[in-house]
Amino acid sequence: MSNRLLTQWPMERVLVAPSLLAARYDRLGEEVAAVEKAGAEVLHLDIMDGHFVPNISFGADVVKAVRPLSGMFFDAHLMITDPLKYAPSFQAAGAEHITFHVEAVDNPREVIDEIHRLGCSAGISLKPRTPASAVVPFLDKVELVLVMTVEPGFGGQSFMADQLPKIKELRDAIDASGRKVRLEVDGGIAPATAVLVREAGADLLVAGSSVFRTRDGDYRNAVDALR
Ligand code: DX5
Ligand code: ZN
Repeated sequence: MSNRLLTQWPMERVLVAPSLLAARYDRLGEEVAAVEKAGAEVLHLDIMDGHFVPNISFGADVVKAVRPLSGMFFDAHLMITDPLKYAPSFQAAGAEHITFHVEAVDNPREVIDEIHRLGCSAGISLKPRTPASAVVPFLDKVELVLVMTVEPGFGGQSFMADQLPKIKELRDAIDASGRKVRLEVDGGIAPATAVLVREAGADLLVAGSSVFRTRDGDYRNAVDALR
């Protein structure tokens, strides 16, 4: 499967990425099809190894299983200790974009190069306590920066408003770089917090609970309410 690029959408368009972590696992295929029908462009895949974060989610086999069921752009969020080792298996499973955590590796450039060598776009993520300066040196190479607005490891947590200045700081750094770099936010994103992160400069919004666990089950309304 040829890899599509994250830059296929105009940068002014705010993209919505439901997180599969919050979907009903007993009917993954239906859930994935339903959020695509609701207009979400990107499927966010939370990969947790029980080591980098205190939780275990799912692996490449699950990604491979849902790949043929969806035309959405697959965004793999690797919350794992060894992204260099496992990136190829997620690319082979159908991920088109791979994000790793700056806190997990000594040589981010090596990981970015490997993700690009696999034909995927590359993203770098930072936990709430990690300053923006930790990822700014890589704005010349990545296609995406992911700001965690919760401590990574679980869905359904409360949004951390103290991350808004960091989003703004990275927005300014990306604009100054002149490159097309998406600014993704992840954790506690719902209609009220979506307004705040968009104002701070985010243009790719991950949402688990506020989409897959929306009370009335109206995914289109839930997706539209984030834009
Ligand atoms: C947390 C994950 C998030 C999470 C988002 O470590 O990276 O993607 O699933 O879930 P909500 O939107 O429910 O906070
Ligand atoms: Zn995530």
